Amino acid sequence: MRVIICENYEEISKKAADIVASQVILKPDCVLGLATGSTPIGLYDNLVEKNKNGEIDFSNVTTFNLDEYYPLAPDNDQSYRYFMNTHLFDRINIDKARTHVPNGLAADPEAEGKAYDEMIAAHGGIDLQVLGIGQNGHIAFNEPDDNLVAGTHLTGLTENTIEANSRFFESIDDVPRKALTMGMGSIMKARKIILLANGKSKAAVIKEMMNDNVTTSIPATLLKCHPDVIILCDKEAAGM
Ligand code: F6R
Repeated sequence: MRVIICENYEEISKKAADIVASQVILKPDCVLGLATGSTPIGLYDNLVEKNKNGEIDFSNVTTFNLDEYYPLAPDNDQSYRYFMNTHLFDRINIDKARTHVPNGLAADPEAEGKAYDEMIAAHGGIDLQVLGIGQNGHIAFNEPDDNLVAGTHLTGLTENTIEANSRFFESIDDVPRKALTMGMGSIMKARKIILLANGKSKAAVIKEMMNDNVTTSIPATLLKCHPDVIILCDKEAAGM
């Protein structure tokens, strides 16, 4: 695992965009794994800029997002599909048919999860996965637990995550209590992973990423078993 400590959020966003851009330039028909949340917004803004100035072409890129609230319609403005359209897909020359987000209205969430993993595999797997990290060490919606699920699945959100995500909703009661999420196994199959973290609130969990322990009570620590992970964090998240 490589750790790159950046001066601030702007530098994290720029560096992450350079890595994603390199991937797209090296393999124009690559498969990107994408995240939502506040952290990757700066990365997406930089990618929009690079697309506008002709540096990168997304027309042959395929994307798979990590997760989606359940149940929630894709056109609900709190859905992760809506977030991705607004922050990235509607602003770049990507073919929307090549962008995938788990279906938050799937009648059979178990079948949806299985089909999602099969679709990723059918596209040759994820070349580069972008991740954020929860304060409790969650990755996507893989929350701390004794057991984690490998594949894409329906899961309950912890109180900690419901509270953290309530800032995007009018009231905490509006936060869906469940989500469809790629499992740690789906994520670990990505060939390359970049994890972005900024701010003091992430310092404790980033510290846990620096020791050699791997535990399901901090799901992000499983990434220590992956051969190609880069953590991009600012000084605050690095505890400096
Ligand atoms: C979002 C996701 C979540 C976030 C995490 C951090 O798709 O998978 O695990 O990455 O909750 O969120 P922010 O970036 O808002 O601190």
